[in-house]
Amino acid sequence: MTDFGKKTPQISELPKTNSGQLKHYAQWAGTYDTDLDQAGYEAPTHAVALMAKLVSIDAQIIEFGCGTGLVGELLAGHGYQRVVGIDQSPEMLDKAKNRSCYQSLREHDLTQPLIDDIRYEAGVCVGVCAFGPVLAQHILHMTAVLVEHAPLILTINGKAWNDHDWVEQLDEAQQRDGFIVEFINTIPYLTNEDVDGKLLIVRNTRFESEVECTQEFS
Ligand SMILES: C[S@@+](CC[C@H](N)C(=O)[O-])C[C@H]1O[C@@H](n2cnc3c(N)ncnc32)[C@H](O)[C@@H]1O
Repeated sequence: MTDFGKKTPQISELPKTNSGQLKHYAQWAGTYDTDLDQAGYEAPTHAVALMAKLVSIDAQIIEFGCGTGLVGELLAGHGYQRVVGIDQSPEMLDKAKNRSCYQSLREHDLTQPLIDDIRYEAGVCVGVCAFGPVLAQHILHMTAVLVEHAPLILTINGKAWNDHDWVEQLDEAQQRDGFIVEFINTIPYLTNEDVDGKLLIVRNTRFESEVECTQEFS
């Protein structure tokens, strides 16, 4: 159990394994939106405001860990109509489907490579990166489906940022995995739980041809 989120037990009891998270979100999907509203969850607003500054309204966007669709709804409010959502929880995806703001929704575990036949012009991942299971070493699975230099807008729980050594993890990952962290800002995250967060712009720096070369010769 974490030492934050005391007012909202589902936040403090977030499991660090995939199987644990699947069970947790299956049980939480029904009240997730109201619980996060009470916790003062501001991360989606900041991520989408940054998207609106960087990415044109007609861009093809992918959201990683879309949950019940809070971010998708905000993107739709800004006029984005080409947004695909990915999450490993069928129960959370069912809620997102009801919002009708995604072109398509798909079950996928972000700790595994994502196979897709198109490349996206921007990505967004809000509220997923914290204490695990989705960590810096998995960002590669997100940037790999973006066009070169496309932005991935990412939030990281501020408590995990310190306790889980995200600075060091990100540094190692960006040297190894073909992306750069271009921008980091501190944002209000779960304001009623006194937790701040980090808002990042990550860019894919890997050429398609490099990906092919690595696969062919390694
Ligand atoms: C705190 S919610 C954030 C949802 C949404 N982005 C938001 O801001 O409301 C975290 C989401 O990440 C998903 N998630 C956790 N681990 C995952 C994994 N390994 N692969 C895909 N999704 C995962 C959960 O199912 C959940 O929907």
